[in-house]
Amino acid sequence: MTNHGANAAAGTIGIHDLSFATTQFVLPHTELARYNGTDIGKYHIGIGQQAMSVPAVDEDIVTMAAAAAAPVIARHGTDGIRTVVFATESSIDQAKAAGVYVHTLLGLPTSTRVVELKQACYAGTAALQFALGLVHRDPTQRILVIASDVSKYDADSPGEATQGAAAVAMLVSADPALLHIEEPSGLFTADVMDFWRPNYRETALVDGQESISAYLQAVEGAWKDYGEQGGRALGEFHAICYHQPFTKMAHKAHRHLLRCCGEDTDEAVVDRVLGRTTAYNAVVGNSYTASVYLGLAALLDETDEDLTGRPIGFLSYGSGSVAEFFAGTVVPGYHAHLRTAAHREAVDRRQTVDYPAYRELRDNSLPADGGDHMLPAQTGGPYRLAGTSGHKRLYEPR
Ligand code: HMG
Repeated sequence: MTNHGANAAAGTIGIHDLSFATTQFVLPHTELARYNGTDIGKYHIGIGQQAMSVPAVDEDIVTMAAAAAAPVIARHGTDGIRTVVFATESSIDQAKAAGVYVHTLLGLPTSTRVVELKQACYAGTAALQFALGLVHRDPTQRILVIASDVSKYDADSPGEATQGAAAVAMLVSADPALLHIEEPSGLFTADVMDFWRPNYRETALVDGQESISAYLQAVEGAWKDYGEQGGRALGEFHAICYHQPFTKMAHKAHRHLLRCCGEDTDEAVVDRVLGRTTAYNAVVGNSYTASVYLGLAALLDETDEDLTGRPIGFLSYGSGSVAEFFAGTVVPGYHAHLRTAAHREAVDRRQTVDYPAYRELRDNSLPADGGDHMLPAQTGGPYRLAGTSGHKRLYEPR
């Protein structure tokens, strides 16, 4: 028996608004390939990446998060927002939640709870699910969910080509304008060391091939549980938004799912289900917690066809590993609430850097001596990290 309409009794709940922001700079993969002698086909076709976002020295997860969330607050105000859930795996502090800085930058009321969540790239989905639960308990509340990350691997490692950075802000509410989220979720956890970042490291450690196998195993496990929880059949989905560490991973994942379901794995079938979900990720790179929701933004913004009433699947994966498969349906009138022009502008306004400039930005790190260090103004975004003083990060509107 299916129960995917089960949340109707409490009114539909889901994503009311979605906005994303990325960085000031962009490194095209042609430039990386020129530097390291890689055949560009490996990047453009093999991993499906065209470019990756590179933060300015005065940008980080907080500035991107505030830039993504500010238009949401400008459109909807702060009424009813009593919770901010901030998902990240590139945290800037071991104790204080990054969302507290965003709370100040956006002028949110003091009567707000703010918390940070972590489980690699999966945490954005945990944040969304927790938000749905809070709205279910009190449908008058609206929850600001933010997923913001800077993906960083060792220079000259295979992971370098799969870096990126972005933030997504979503307002979760009853009677949402974009997407109703359905109740059954398929869950999967397995203790694997495919990708991790000990507290003393700035860059992630990864076993690339192991991480791909772990992802596929998680797809299979989450899908199996989704079926057991009464979820939809695979053929019902108009599109599926996968976590995209690189866009070809979504192709691998969907082929694997089709194979698990005993279906034809023809590339045309895979392309049809992925649709436009890879459009932003291909030029932004891995944005970790934000990646799967950049996939949703691309699907909604870039699909010409009317998606009203269409079931959309989501597969969220976080190394280590936790995965979740869930579904939503697109709400009538969604088109009027999209931020397509602003999203395209966020991608298009980035300044292209060459390899040496990227390397300088990438190797830049904040001094850890607790002194006063002001940062040059580089970002064209609405908020910046002005510097540090007394081991405190100082943020300001630009
Ligand atoms: P690699 O060893 O550099 O690349 O690592 P490769 O040799 O595996 O080649 C990649 C693909 O390009 C292959 O295709 C090649 O055949 C193809 P495949 O066999 O996979 O279909 N290729 C070419 N195609 C066309 N023309 C050519 C050509 N040459 C080769 N000339 C890897 C690639 C992704 C492993 C590496 O970049 C890496 O380690 N990245 C980081 C880890 C990662 O992204 N893992 C993904 C799954 S884990 C995950 O999603 C979680 C994560 O987001 C973190 C989190 O949860 O927090 C990472």
